[in-house]
Amino acid sequence: MFPCALNGAARRWVKRFASGRAFSTLRPRLVLGIETSCDETGAAVLDETGVILGESLHSQKTIHLDAGGIIPTVAQSLHKENISRVVQEALDRSGIEPGELTAVATTVMPGLALSLKIGLDFSLKFVRLHEKPFIPIHHMEAHALTVRMLQPLDFPFLVLLISGGHSLLALAKGIDEFLLLGKTLDVAVGDSLDKIARRLSLRNHPDCLTLSGGQAIELLAKEGDQLAFHFTSPMEKLYNCNFSFAGFQRQVTMEIMKKETEEGIEKGQVLSCAKDIAAASQYTAASHIAKRTHRAILFCKSKDLLPQHNPTLVVSGGVASNEYIRQILKIVTDATGLHLLCPPSKLCTDNGVMIAWNGIERLKQGKGIMSYTEEIKYEPKAPLGLDITSEVKDAAIKLPPLKLRIRS
Ligand code: KG4
Ligand code: ZN
Repeated sequence: MFPCALNGAARRWVKRFASGRAFSTLRPRLVLGIETSCDETGAAVLDETGVILGESLHSQKTIHLDAGGIIPTVAQSLHKENISRVVQEALDRSGIEPGELTAVATTVMPGLALSLKIGLDFSLKFVRLHEKPFIPIHHMEAHALTVRMLQPLDFPFLVLLISGGHSLLALAKGIDEFLLLGKTLDVAVGDSLDKIARRLSLRNHPDCLTLSGGQAIELLAKEGDQLAFHFTSPMEKLYNCNFSFAGFQRQVTMEIMKKETEEGIEKGQVLSCAKDIAAASQYTAASHIAKRTHRAILFCKSKDLLPQHNPTLVVSGGVASNEYIRQILKIVTDATGLHLLCPPSKLCTDNGVMIAWNGIERLKQGKGIMSYTEEIKYEPKAPLGLDITSEVKDAAIKLPPLKLRIRS
């Protein structure tokens, strides 16, 4: 029999059999996950063992690159245009009928209000039509827990989430229990790299046409000299785990303007030293992230917050795709005896799979499951867990010397 001739249940069984998880349970619970918090419209159907039965993703990246940044009203209309198709595609690929789903999980916080609204409105209509339970999801919790879909990992573990909208360090104590150790005081690292890439006109660089700002910086940095420019590492004298990228971004922008005058280049042209600026920027951002993470590890150790056996740092969010940043973080985890785990790049950036997995985690523990009749609101601003950043600041941990420079 050809795969295309299989009915939904048979196709699902074949996928589960191929994954070696076919006999784990007779009637697996199935969750549809929906993500629209920023600029990706994502959907996925997962079973409770973490097998992805079907997924679909529409990225708005190139449209926002053309516009020079995310315009919320544009993001909203693109979500509106694509959400039905993306969800239907994920269902079709999974071979699951809506009636077979155990629940629907959707990002309702934090994110762009106009984008969250589309995902929530669609989901509420869907669960009411099919009379399914609804599981509201916190986007950053989903990033933090994705790794547990890929391998067994017990709580507690330390998590570093670096993306276009967030830079934060937290201790994950349970699926809905986090201690916030550090957060960005201004902009997120991904936002900062995106703006530097834009200021460098990397969109016009032949190798970077379809890349996000962070991806373009990483690519160009590979051929650049990270020592050619020196940008000061943010907040070196503040012994906490918070981040700051606004001052760094300003410094890089000033340097770009200076070089543009020196080279006499027109707006939109790429500087001859763009690769060196990319390499030096990537190094400064990476070392800031690494130092704050190093302090968070030492803080957790001083308070006995991490397990003796296999203490782990999980890194996720779009910027965690960056190989150079991963390598610098590996220096930190090697020096402190932690195990470093990063999901594959595809699961670090926004997607529907991570939302469906968070739904599965909640379903298994019976937490946060709502009836399809309940009124649910989205929340654009929603901190992650209990904020103990002032306790971290009071501990004022000084870092031992650690050589963080590697080849870009
Ligand atoms: O998690 P994500 O997909 O969306 C948010 O929730 O923000 O992250 C997107 C961010 C963008 O700022 C993008 O430039 C950055 O992740 N990014 C990278 C890389 N790939 C994506 N930054 C640095 N290096 C990369 N390879
Ligand atoms: Zn994200």
